Amino acid sequence: MEQYAMKGGVPLVGEVEIGGAKNAALAILAAAIMTDETVVVENVPDVRDTNVLMKAMESVGATVVKTDRHTVKINGYQIDNLVIDDEHIKKIRASYYLLGALLGKYKHAEVPLPGGCNLGTRAIDQHLKGFRALGADVRVEHGFVIAEANKLKGNHIFMDKVSVGATINVMMAAVMAEGKTVIENAAKEPHVVDLANFLNSMGANIKGAGTDVIRINGVNRLHKTEYAIIPDQIEAGTYMMAAAITKGDIMVKNVIPKHLECISAKLIEIGCEIEESDDAVRVVASKRLNNTQVKTLPYPGFPTDMQPQMTVTLGLSSGISIVTESIFDNRFKYVDELARMGADVKVEGNTAIISGVNKYTGASVSAPDLRAGAALVLAGLAAEGLTVIDDIKYIERGYEDFPEKLKHLGAHMEKVESDKDLRKFEMKIG
Ligand code: UD1
Repeated sequence: MEQYAMKGGVPLVGEVEIGGAKNAALAILAAAIMTDETVVVENVPDVRDTNVLMKAMESVGATVVKTDRHTVKINGYQIDNLVIDDEHIKKIRASYYLLGALLGKYKHAEVPLPGGCNLGTRAIDQHLKGFRALGADVRVEHGFVIAEANKLKGNHIFMDKVSVGATINVMMAAVMAEGKTVIENAAKEPHVVDLANFLNSMGANIKGAGTDVIRINGVNRLHKTEYAIIPDQIEAGTYMMAAAITKGDIMVKNVIPKHLECISAKLIEIGCEIEESDDAVRVVASKRLNNTQVKTLPYPGFPTDMQPQMTVTLGLSSGISIVTESIFDNRFKYVDELARMGADVKVEGNTAIISGVNKYTGASVSAPDLRAGAALVLAGLAAEGLTVIDDIKYIERGYEDFPEKLKHLGAHMEKVESDKDLRKFEMKIG
């Protein structure tokens, strides 16, 4: 029974180093098997999702060797099985990137329908539509997506919805397809651009990533590369929010400030001071924060993956704030847990109406998913007294060394594995 225990009320102060972007890593690791030569990927975050994906890649014959904690050498030459049947892979959403990667390279892939965070209905129709447009026969049987083709041929694809996953998957499938593919209404997230840069460094010909029209000229083969993954926008945003909610002063280092502008803008609006340099953002919060309105949107809008962290911060700000979730239809499940800590949040459909309270009080809560789990940690760090968070396996999917990094910033926090550990922590913090 692993839990996070924390005693809140300490302003977090200091510096924190941000790791590689989980969501970019998942796409890039999968795409690395698309050449028979050895690819070196640096700045891979050591989190559960990337480790599960690498295990699944090994299960079909790829060689995956970690040369240090964050550097991985991948060789897809010996892949001898196009059916991913690893029991763990069903739990992560990004398992479906192996569909695009294997289909693009071998013209055949069988991958279990994806799991991942339960944020409401998460269709993959746009992925399948894209594969079909490239000439693949795609069907769902016995819980698997099966995609196969004699050859893939470039096409003009209009995405009905802006989807990060579908954009990435179709990009991978199209990279070695015959001729030209155009993806319209593409997602513009930093990790879409990072994957395109990675594939281009392997010899692909992709233009326009980061805009809503991506043009791909198919190439015959991809070759080896060495590539470093971009910093994680959401990990960085979470520490920025940690400064805001604890009235702290945190220098968030090794980031691309441009990717954080949508978050910085909201923090400035509610009264934080932000200083930007080339690869760092400092967030200082010295007084009670103000209310605001936030709507999640595809990049460059406010990220849905920062919505829970923003909501818990607004829960302690003055006045009434409104948060509208426009990407997923079930992303306010954590509000019931937050209520146990004294928050006053009402959810109507996809909108949360937040009446700021003066304080949260520590409680025992459960992490319902990755980002909501991180948000509960932030709430616990700001709360009076002891907070214990269950189901931290969700949080560990996406945050490397979360307790260690927070402790380095002054948090009273521990990962505990038993009641005895918990009692020891309680005695230590008094
Ligand atoms: C990715 C991220 C996730 C983030 C999300 C939105 C990864 C591994 N995960 O998830 O952390 O919260 O982007 O930024 O990178 N949709 C369809 N049909 C489809 C595909 C998507 O209707 O075929 C809908 C989804 O249900 C959702 C919306 O489109 O409502 C956006 O989803 P999408 O951008 O695809 O999210 P993911 O790629 O799953």
